[in-house]
This record gives sequence, structure tokens and C-alpha cells, in this order.
Amino acid sequence: MSTPMTVQQHILEEQRRLRPAASGEFSWLLSGITLATKLIAAQVRRAGLADIAGAAGGAANIQGEVVQKLDVIANQALLNCLGNRGNVAVMASEEDDEPVVSQRDWEHGKYVVVFDPLDGSSNIDVNVSVGTIFSILRRAPEPDRFRTPLEDVLQPGFKQLAAGYVVYGSSTMFVYTAGNGVNGFTLDPSIGAYLISHPNIRMPASGSIYSCNEANADTFPGGYRKYLAYLRSGESGRKYSSRYIGSLVADFHRTLLKGGIFLYPPTASHPSGKLRLMYEANPIAFLAEQAGGKATDGTMRILDKTPHSLHERTALMVGSGAEMEALARFVSPA
Ligand code: AHG
Ligand code: MN
Ligand code: MN
Repeated sequence: MSTPMTVQQHILEEQRRLRPAASGEFSWLLSGITLATKLIAAQVRRAGLADIAGAAGGAANIQGEVVQKLDVIANQALLNCLGNRGNVAVMASEEDDEPVVSQRDWEHGKYVVVFDPLDGSSNIDVNVSVGTIFSILRRAPEPDRFRTPLEDVLQPGFKQLAAGYVVYGSSTMFVYTAGNGVNGFTLDPSIGAYLISHPNIRMPASGSIYSCNEANADTFPGGYRKYLAYLRSGESGRKYSSRYIGSLVADFHRTLLKGGIFLYPPTASHPSGKLRLMYEANPIAFLAEQAGGKATDGTMRILDKTPHSLHERTALMVGSGAEMEALARFVSPA
């Protein structure tokens, strides 16, 4: 029997091939992320059983244990696994108002990790796929160490060293890029390891699925409404279907593998878009581009956006070249 390639092995070999001088610290950091996501996957799989899907804030389960919401558990798993890994100076999460500084590595830590610990969490209660999204940035080098932790975090997406997500779906998958293509690994629960299952993922050049929350469509800016009408009209020569899960990770995962387009345009209730730039749009855009797709906010490339705050929102349109190019004819850059 041949030995299957684990994510760890893959990352080490990629580093050896592309950056022979690398110290291995980056691989060590990534193993902190994979460990945390295995812990999260184990909790997600038990969600209905363990009474952990209830509201946070001290509700007790049947054993009298304090019930914690899965978002909080997932956040803690990432903070713990990364915080004692070495080399992570700053962590920033959807769940925390401010960046968290690693006590252990503040002085020498080279990396900043930004994450959405549990994406699509409203789907937990109904047993639908959720995910974890992460983005890894380099901390400013020594001479700039007077920077605040927030300044270390607020870097544009094109500066990401690596990004990825885990989708807790019918299987658990880890999808990752370090700027050299996108690879996917599936968790083998019998051995607790992520094994390569989707090497060198390429997003199809076009697809036949569009994905958006159509209940908001009446409040999308006119160009988006016209674009959706164009997709439905058949004028493009394609017959489109619509799919919308409401977990960005799951909706993007489908878009990555099948092609097509995901849209979260500005709406009446979220005039700047709803999704978060730093830990949703940026990592997803990096993966999309690395797989041959595109990602914009309707006026510019997501990866070129200058962030101004940790929890900043953005519109996000991401998908195959053909659908993204057609979109640009309806929604023109500013
Ligand atoms: P989170 O659970 O991390 O807050 O993210 C939810 C996000 C994202 O996963 C999804 O694409 C979007 O919210 C769905 O929003 P609508 O319910 O407005 O469609
Ligand atoms: Mn999210
Ligand atoms: Mn979340």
C-alpha cells in the first residue's frame, strides 16, 4: 500500500522545493492551524449531541456544564493552538474586538494570523456545512517594530503569505494556498490526518451556477440586478442554476470546484457589503486568484484594497473568468 501524502508532508516538500532556505517555522505554524481545525471538526460533528449549539452566555446543558457556543469554542481552539506554536506575534479574529497579542511570541514572532473561526455559524442549528477561514501575513520587520498590533494586521490582501479554509461538510476538507496554486486535503477521520485529495485545484473558466442571497436582490445596485437578469435570460448561451447555502466557505468551495460566480453586493441593510475584508474576502480572493479565478468588490480587485479597520466589511464577487468578465460589463469600475 502506498503511503498517502499528508498536508504536513505536502507543505514541508513545497517549502523545500520553493524556499530551500526556509526554517520550517512556517510549516510549524500551519500545523497549529490544522490541529485547531481537527479539534473544531470534532466539536462540529458532535454539535447536536453535546448541546453546544445553544446560545453562549452561561446556559447549562443536561450535565450541568456551562454550554458554550461553537463560535467561541472554535475561536479558543485557534487562539490556543496558534498562541503556543511559536512565531505568531498577533492573532486577530472575528470573535474578538481587538487583535490578540501572543504573550509568548510578541518580541520575536514573525507572523500575523487573521481568522473567522466559525463561518456560517447560523447553519449549525440545521446541520448544514460551516467552515473556518484563515489568512497569514508577515509581521513588519525589525526596524518597524514600533507598530501597534492593529497596524501589523491591517495589510492589503496582496501581502498575504498564505490563506485557506476548512469546510466541515459531508467530509472535512482543508483547502490552502501559499501563493503557488491551491491544494485540497480531506480529513481521514480514522487516522486523524488530512490527506491530499484535490492536488492543484483550478477553477473552471466558466460555470453554470450563480450564488447570492436573492431575497436582497431588490436592493442590489442596478448593475447587479441587470447582471442577474442577463444570467437568467439565457443570452450568455448558458442555462444557469442558483445555489445559496449561506456559509461563505461552502458557497465558495462549490464555486472553486464547479465554477460560476458567488455575489454578495451592497444591499440596503449593508451598503458597503456584508462580508469581512480581513478574514473572509481577502483569503477567499487569494485562493480564487491562485486557482485562476477573480475576486472584486465591484469597483476594484479585493486584494488591492487598503484596510482601515479589523472588522471592515466589503462587497464580494468571486468566481470564474467568464462570469466575472460578464459582470464587469454591468458593474463597471469606479
Ligand atoms: P459568520 O457566520 O462568520 O458570521 O458568517 C456569515 C456570513 C457568510 O458565511 C455568509 O456568506 C453570509 O454571512 C450569509 O449572509 P446572509 O444571511 O445575509 O445571506
Ligand atoms: Mn463568516
Ligand atoms: Mn464566524
